[in-house]
Amino acid sequence: MAKQFHITTFGCQMNEHDSERMKGMLESLGYAETGERGDADLILFNTCSIREKADERFIAHLHDAKIIKRGRPGTVIGVGGCWAQSMKDLVFEQFPFVDVAFGPGQVPKLAEFLTTDSISAQGFFEFEGFPAHLPTKRERPHQAWLQISVGCHMKCSYCIVPSTRGRHVSRPFDELVAEAERLVGEGVVEITLLGQNVNAYGRDLRPEPRNFAELLRVVGEIPGIKRVRYTSPHPQDMKRDVIDVHAELDTVCQHIHLPLQAGSSRILKAMRRTYDRERFLDRVAMIREGVPDVAFSTDIIVGFPGETEEDFQQTLEVCEAVQFDSAFTFIFSARRGTEAADITEGLVPHEVKVERMQRLVEVIQRNAHERAQRFVGRTMEVLIEGPSRTDPSRLRGRTTHNKAVNFEGFGEPGTFTTVEIVSATSQTLMGEQSLVDLALR
Ligand code: SAH
Ligand code: SF4
Ligand code: F3S
Repeated sequence: MAKQFHITTFGCQMNEHDSERMKGMLESLGYAETGERGDADLILFNTCSIREKADERFIAHLHDAKIIKRGRPGTVIGVGGCWAQSMKDLVFEQFPFVDVAFGPGQVPKLAEFLTTDSISAQGFFEFEGFPAHLPTKRERPHQAWLQISVGCHMKCSYCIVPSTRGRHVSRPFDELVAEAERLVGEGVVEITLLGQNVNAYGRDLRPEPRNFAELLRVVGEIPGIKRVRYTSPHPQDMKRDVIDVHAELDTVCQHIHLPLQAGSSRILKAMRRTYDRERFLDRVAMIREGVPDVAFSTDIIVGFPGETEEDFQQTLEVCEAVQFDSAFTFIFSARRGTEAADITEGLVPHEVKVERMQRLVEVIQRNAHERAQRFVGRTMEVLIEGPSRTDPSRLRGRTTHNKAVNFEGFGEPGTFTTVEIVSATSQTLMGEQSLVDLALR
């Protein structure tokens, strides 16, 4: 019987994408995926280290794998991703039952490890750019990630990513376009361009520098592509050229994830975010002028060292002013090796962080709820993803705004339908498949 692998993925879309590549690579080596960790000959973790909570969750899983291995000593345990990279000097010392550890972008090294008869633990932590030609097993056949760069060149003082993913390197323009065309040829209708700061794309390319707006346009114009998304842009680099592409091409989705992090210019400065409150609000105004119906999502951190009640109030004010359609909210977590981890003054007590978080979530949810009402009564194009998670008799899909829609109707995952929106909560739109659409079937 083929050897079986099980993989658990933590963290962001980069990791989801890396896991898809690990799966594709392992299947090409003759391994088969199993849904049960206890059945696996190879137990893999693709890890995240963005906050302390992420570490804690993962360690509990790793402990589970250790117990499985105790019962089945031949089991191979592999740990990849950002936690592995940030622990490179300590991983085998602290977790001697781990057989192989590798940083993000070192996925091919996993194959090397598995195909040699190595018996000792091995670690792979170089930054080598993008391993382009790996087979990929997509989670959804009609949706694909396209990683346009590796690493990050920013210096946000709270963030561990530049140290786990290395310096920013763009992938060649023509290579990306060719890959996007290939994906569309395989039946992919939605592509998400991935990078830590997508707007920085292409500046480092030689001999001919490129830019993100160019890439977005060329990918959005590929015949047969229906939707293009991207994440994450940096507010500092969000310029009119990108917004023009949004406005001109129907394929470029009307959703922008614009990470705010904080609404106080003082805190933004301490975070080294390179924009202030006014600049952020100006960007939002410029985007809304070009793409009036755009949906904004964001990331916000509460309790950064030195954040006072007044600073936090300014975060609430910016949220009320922008009215985000959704937001990911985080409590500041000191990460090893980051600049902010060394700040000793003005630390925000845990209870205060929690209380601010609750107040922020209230504002975010109220705004999201209000914003979502604009969709009620509209007939919207929805890309069907499959059955609804809460009610399998209904279908679930997404609008161009990245809003989840639950509706009664028919249709295969990966196809489009039109849905009349009848009600909306902060998170989800409810609707009915439009009669016109049904008549066409
Ligand atoms: N490169 C992307 C994503 C970075 S990680 C970007 O800049 O948008 C995703 C989010 O995690 C960040 O936007 C930030 O809000 C949050 N985050 C990062 N480090 C953190 C930390 N130390 N504590 C709390 N939240 C953090
Ligand atoms: Fe981290 Fe900032 Fe880079 Fe995002 S842009 S990955 S928050 S350093
Ligand atoms: Fe992503 Fe977590 Fe690494 S958010 S970049 S997997 S630290």
